[in-house]
Amino acid sequence: MSFDRRTFLTRTALGAAGLAAGSRLQAADKPAAAALPTFDAAQPETFWRAVRAQYPLAQDFIYFNTGGLGPSVQPALTAAAETTRTLQLRSEHGHNLLAGARAAVARFLGADPEEIAFVRNATEGNAIVAAGVKLAAGDEVIFETHAHPGGSFPWVNQEKLRGVKTKLFEPDPADAAGNLARIVALMTPRTRVVQVSHVTAPTGIVLPTREIARVCRERGAWFHIDGAQSAGMFPFSLHELDCDSFATSGHKWIGGPLETGVLYVRRNRLDDVAATLVGAYSGELDFLPGDLRLAPTAIRYEYGTRNAAAIVGLAEAMSFQERVGRERIAARGRALAAQVRAGFERIPGLEILTPRNPELNGSILTFRTRAIPYDKLFGRLMKDYSIRCRPVSEQKLDALRVSTHLFNSPTECAALVEAVEKIVRTA
Ligand SMILES: Cc1ncc(COP(=O)(O)O)c(C=O)c1O
Repeated sequence: MSFDRRTFLTRTALGAAGLAAGSRLQAADKPAAAALPTFDAAQPETFWRAVRAQYPLAQDFIYFNTGGLGPSVQPALTAAAETTRTLQLRSEHGHNLLAGARAAVARFLGADPEEIAFVRNATEGNAIVAAGVKLAAGDEVIFETHAHPGGSFPWVNQEKLRGVKTKLFEPDPADAAGNLARIVALMTPRTRVVQVSHVTAPTGIVLPTREIARVCRERGAWFHIDGAQSAGMFPFSLHELDCDSFATSGHKWIGGPLETGVLYVRRNRLDDVAATLVGAYSGELDFLPGDLRLAPTAIRYEYGTRNAAAIVGLAEAMSFQERVGRERIAARGRALAAQVRAGFERIPGLEILTPRNPELNGSILTFRTRAIPYDKLFGRLMKDYSIRCRPVSEQKLDALRVSTHLFNSPTECAALVEAVEKIVRTA
């Protein structure tokens, strides 16, 4: 039998089995939607308690670190586990499940499925863009000093590898226009790329992405958004944001399984981001030696065997957020952050670093106090109160970050304020 014929037969047999298992899985094993009561504005906490009940997160633990790692919601974990189990019945990878997940993820992010690549985390998405955008030595890339290592390291690495020049701006906590002005002030005819965090990791500043996109378009610069802290915190549409590319983690505010991430590259710019890591599934090459034809879609950035079950879990986590209501989630996170802010403002000597301006903030609140070193405060909250915040050592801010999301409650926020107040008072 010729190589081609054997390959064809093998592919057909495996493909048919995969499709059969896949369709069984979609039809029979799709986990039941988590039951949530109808939202009643007169009794909102009844609804939010039902949301909280969907998380396996321990009840005696107060978790304010979604910005680091978001707890997964049970329907997402069930979808991933059930998919894994079903795929294991015939030892299949389940790649045929990716198309449905891709459509769901595209819908959630306001993009087309052809613009979505599944990656392992936000860092991988950022790194694919940094390595793939065509740049020459001396070309300039602008990003903020508060960029997370997952956003900054890929560009600093390109500085080493390709001699690109990185230029940094300090985020303006006072004014959206100030952030735009700081970027514009750094732009020169050599500026090829502007990258910002949609929401900055250390202090939760929301950067004015639409305005930055407009300036980048006028000046011909590539605009990449690191959305690790925004996707799942509040709703937006990537097509409306008008960026060229965007990357996010699935395992933070979306509440998907670990090692899920998404890279978006605008459809008409796909050829401007070289696929630097490729393999099976990135394209077609029927016979060696031969020419590799990359996939015409963002699938070109995917390669090798994937964890389809985790990606199915990611889509389910998004579906859960849609059932809760994405605007409702954003408003809840904000209201809880505002509650913590109001409580902290009554504690003498406590400084809040996250802007008060609602245009510039979301569901993150970062604070510090001279009364006790930030790392000691972090330790006391964990040890004495089972409250998990996140220490912020970046840029020597020496602060603590509080992320408030849909599973948190006003009672937990009150407990945090009371604990900080007590620790500060007795320090
Ligand atoms: C803005 C930002 N970018 C990137 C990352 C890295 O995310 P991941 O671990 O999913 O790569 C983080 C993580 O906190 C972040 O806040």
